[in-house]
Amino acid sequence: MRILGIETSCDETGVALYDSEQGILADALHSQATMHAPYGGVVPELASRDHIRRILPLLDQVLSQARCSRGDLDAIAYTRGPGLIGALLAGTATACGIAHALNIPVAGIHHMEGHLLSPMLEADKPTYPFLALLISGGHTLLVEVRAWRDYRMLGESLDDAVGEAFDKTAKLLGLPYPGGKPLSDLSVHGNPKRFHFPRPMTGKPGLDFSFSGLKTHALLCYQAHGNEENARADIARAFVDAVVDTLLIKCERAMRKTGLREFVVSGGVSANTQLRTGMRDLGERLGARFMFPRLQWCTDNGAMIAYAGYLQLRYGRSQDANLQPRAKWPLKELKND
Ligand code: KG4
Ligand code: ZN
Repeated sequence: MRILGIETSCDETGVALYDSEQGILADALHSQATMHAPYGGVVPELASRDHIRRILPLLDQVLSQARCSRGDLDAIAYTRGPGLIGALLAGTATACGIAHALNIPVAGIHHMEGHLLSPMLEADKPTYPFLALLISGGHTLLVEVRAWRDYRMLGESLDDAVGEAFDKTAKLLGLPYPGGKPLSDLSVHGNPKRFHFPRPMTGKPGLDFSFSGLKTHALLCYQAHGNEENARADIARAFVDAVVDTLLIKCERAMRKTGLREFVVSGGVSANTQLRTGMRDLGERLGARFMFPRLQWCTDNGAMIAYAGYLQLRYGRSQDANLQPRAKWPLKELKND
């Protein structure tokens, strides 16, 4: 079975082809980051228009890379939500239009389920049940994954998503958008002892997160020390250390609470080097296994959508062709029925 995946929830147009026997055959991506960079964030209308321009050329690129034609496609999966509504509409309309023309099924996929399942595309894949930490620009979710579509929410951010906190703090320090990686690179040159930021919501029980206070902490620190030597790198270091520590404390807590020792970490922030190092150390200490998608599939991509679509179709979940995209769509609403 060959499934085309189309991802357009935010500022990346991703198209990929998944084969149920051979895995991902081809994968293409166009990032709009440089287009949005002058505005310091994603401009929704520019994003929608650019998706419309990019999807079909990327589709042709993927088909030629895989030496296939449109007639070889058995189904199309697309990101139905959550995300920017105009961006989602571009992917939905294209996917449903092509599927209608080819008379093949479509599968509307939850973007965060795509991230959640993406480590299964790797050789070192998790086995159910496992824990998942989904950390992106729009979400911070801690999930107990008992089986496909049997997801129990353990915790989430009560305010900013962790990627959002990275991006806002990076902007404050004058770094380019999206700021997660530049901030993390700058932090490597910082002194870990100069500033200490809090580890939010770790002092009381529970698995929820809050990251907006860290961003404010960075702002106040910058206002007080911004023009001193090496202040930007030292603030970056204090911020990254606080975020990584907080995530590790919650992961350890989730493992103790559930008894599970397999952890999937995905979404854009899972590309973070300091976090990956911290998780490997924690894994060694607790006899746990942390699994990540390869770097190119940590951030948004078509491969994870194609694979999630394959599972949805394999489990026989048919779909009404008139389904509307959903800008807001809690993961807990996904059920195996
Ligand atoms: O999953 P993703 O591509 O898009 C959403 O679904 O939101 O995640 C994007 C987020 C951005 O906030 C970006 O700054 C962050 O992931 N990010 C990182 C790193 N690479 C991307 N944050 C920290 N360290 C990184 N290396
Ligand atoms: Zn994402």
